[in-house]
Amino acid sequence: MNVRCSGLLALVVASVLPVSVATAKARWWEGAVIYEIYPRSFQDSNGDGVGDLPGIISRLDYLKALGVDAIWLTPIYPSPQVDFGYDVADYTNIDPQFGTLKDFDRLVAEAKKRGIRVLMDMVLNHTSDKHAWFLESMSSKDNPKRDWYVWNSGRTGKDGKRLPPNNWQSLFGHSAWTPAGATSDLYYHFFYKQQPDLNWRNPAVEKAMFDAVRFWLDRGAAGYRFDAVDTLFEVTDLRDAKEGPGVNAYGDPAPDFTLQSKQPEVHDVLRRLRALADSYPGDRLFMGEIYSKDMAELASWYGAKNDELHLPMNMALLPLDVDAASFRKALEAGQTQLGGNVPLFVTDNHDQPRSWDRYGDKTNDTAIARAVATMLLGTRSTALLYYGQEIGMLTTAPTRVEDVKDPIGITGWPKEKGRDGERTPMQWDGSKNAGFTKGTPWLPVPSSAATVNVEAQRNEQDSLFTWYKKLITLRHTNAAVRDGLTTFLDRDAQHAVVWLRTVKSAAPVVFAVNMKAEAVTLTVAADVAQGRVKGLKPLAVSHEVLKSSTPDAISLPPFGVYIGQIQR
Ligand code: GLC
Repeated sequence: MNVRCSGLLALVVASVLPVSVATAKARWWEGAVIYEIYPRSFQDSNGDGVGDLPGIISRLDYLKALGVDAIWLTPIYPSPQVDFGYDVADYTNIDPQFGTLKDFDRLVAEAKKRGIRVLMDMVLNHTSDKHAWFLESMSSKDNPKRDWYVWNSGRTGKDGKRLPPNNWQSLFGHSAWTPAGATSDLYYHFFYKQQPDLNWRNPAVEKAMFDAVRFWLDRGAAGYRFDAVDTLFEVTDLRDAKEGPGVNAYGDPAPDFTLQSKQPEVHDVLRRLRALADSYPGDRLFMGEIYSKDMAELASWYGAKNDELHLPMNMALLPLDVDAASFRKALEAGQTQLGGNVPLFVTDNHDQPRSWDRYGDKTNDTAIARAVATMLLGTRSTALLYYGQEIGMLTTAPTRVEDVKDPIGITGWPKEKGRDGERTPMQWDGSKNAGFTKGTPWLPVPSSAATVNVEAQRNEQDSLFTWYKKLITLRHTNAAVRDGLTTFLDRDAQHAVVWLRTVKSAAPVVFAVNMKAEAVTLTVAADVAQGRVKGLKPLAVSHEVLKSSTPDAISLPPFGVYIGQIQR
C-alpha cells in the first residue's frame, strides 16, 4: 500500500531559507563519530582469548576506512575484572591482559597518523576493593585513607547482628552496604560489592582522581567518557529510600535511587573537571554517562554556563519502538531542548542489548538498521557507535547460567541474563573464531558470525557496513550534513521521519526515512511544477528501487531511506 505524503517540498521551500548555525569554528567533536571499543572483545593479538591494545592497533586501518573520528576504550587499567575493568585497581597503568603503557603510547601515535583520537573511560565513583587505597582504608578506623570511602557503623539487629544503616540497594542487586575489614563497619557501594564508592566529600579523593585524569591527558588521550558520573554523591542523612511496589530481577523491592544519585554536588565537581579540561590544548572532550528521560535535566549536565560536561550522553533513543512519532520526538528534543548544545546520541553500548534486536522485526532487520543509522548519523549530533553495530551484530545472551560471565547475570538469572550478550567478540570474518583470536575466546563467538562479519560486508554494495560508511562520508564531505541546522518536516506523519539540513554554504539536504513495513510515496510535484525546486539529487539511497525515483516523487520501500540535495 502506498501512502501519499504530499507537499513535502512546499514545506521545505516555505519554511527553510539557508541558515547558519555555527559561527565559531566547530570543535573537532561537534558532529564527530565516536566508536566505542570494548577492548576484551575487539581483537586478540596473543592468543589468550582476550582482546588487547596491539589487537586494536592492528585494526586501526579498518576504523579509518569506516571513517570514525575517535575511539573510546572502556577501562583498560589494572583490575581484578569483576566488572570487566570498571573495578579499577590502579588508575595510572595498563592491565597486563591488555598490554603495556608502551602499547598505549603506540596506539595513540598510530591512531593519530590515521586522524583518529583516543578517548579513555574514567571510573570516578568507585575503585576496585583491591585498590591500594581501599586496602588501606579497610585496615583500621584511624588509617589516613579511612575517609576516602564511605564507611558507616550501621545498626545493631535484635540478635546483635550488624545491619546496614538504611535500606539502600546496589544497582546490581541487594544491599548497598557490605561489612569489611578489621572493624565491624560497613562500606557503601552503588555497584558490585567489589566496587566500594569513593568519598567525594573528601578533597584528597578529588585531588587523587583529578591527578589520574591528568595522567592520561598528559599521555595524549583526547578526553574521557566519565563512568556513572551522576552517582558520585549520596544524601548525607542516609534516610531510607522509597521502594516498591513489586520486586526487580534480583528479588529486591523495586528500588528508587533518587537519594543515591544526581545530587547537586556532582555539578560542582564537573565544573572543576571542565576547568581542568580547558587548561589543556587541543579541545579535550569530556563525555559523561547520564541516563535521563527528562531533557531539562539532561541539558543541566552541559552546565548552566556551558561549563560542565561537553557531551552528556543522550540515551533517549535506546528504549524506543521503531515508530516515526517517537523517533521524531526524541531527535527533535535533542535539537531543541538542550540549550543549543550538540546532542550525543547513543543507540548501542556495552550495557544494553544491541539495537539490531531491540529495533528489529525479524523480517526487515537490515532495512531497519539502516533507517536507525540514518537517524543517528543524519541529524546534527555527535554520534556514538558501538563496535559491531556497523555490521549488525546480534545480541547473543548465554543460554545456561553456568556460562554467564557478567555477575549481574548470575544474581539475576534468568530474568536478568547480564550483559555478555552485547559483549561477544567482534566478527571480522567467517572463520572459526571470526578472526578475533587464535585461542579460546573469553566469550563464545556467536554462530551468526558465519554470515554477519566484516569480510562479508566490506565490499558489498548493499551491506549495512557500506551504508554506515556512506553516512559517515557524507558527514565528512557535505557541509549541510555535518553542520546544518536540523528541521523536521511533515511533523504529523505516522509513516516517515523527514528532515532537512540547512547551512549557508551549501544546498539543503533532505532526509526521508520510512518507518513502516509498507511503501510510502513522498510527492514533491507541486513544487517542481511551480518551478520552486528543480528536483533532488540523490546523495545516498538505501534500496535499489530508490535510484529510479523521479525528482518529483520519492517512493520509499519498507524502512527505505532517501537522502538528496535540493536543486534550485
Ligand atoms: C557504568 C558502566 C557499566 C559498569 C558500571 C559500574 O554503567 O557502563 O558497564 O558496570 O558503570 O562501573
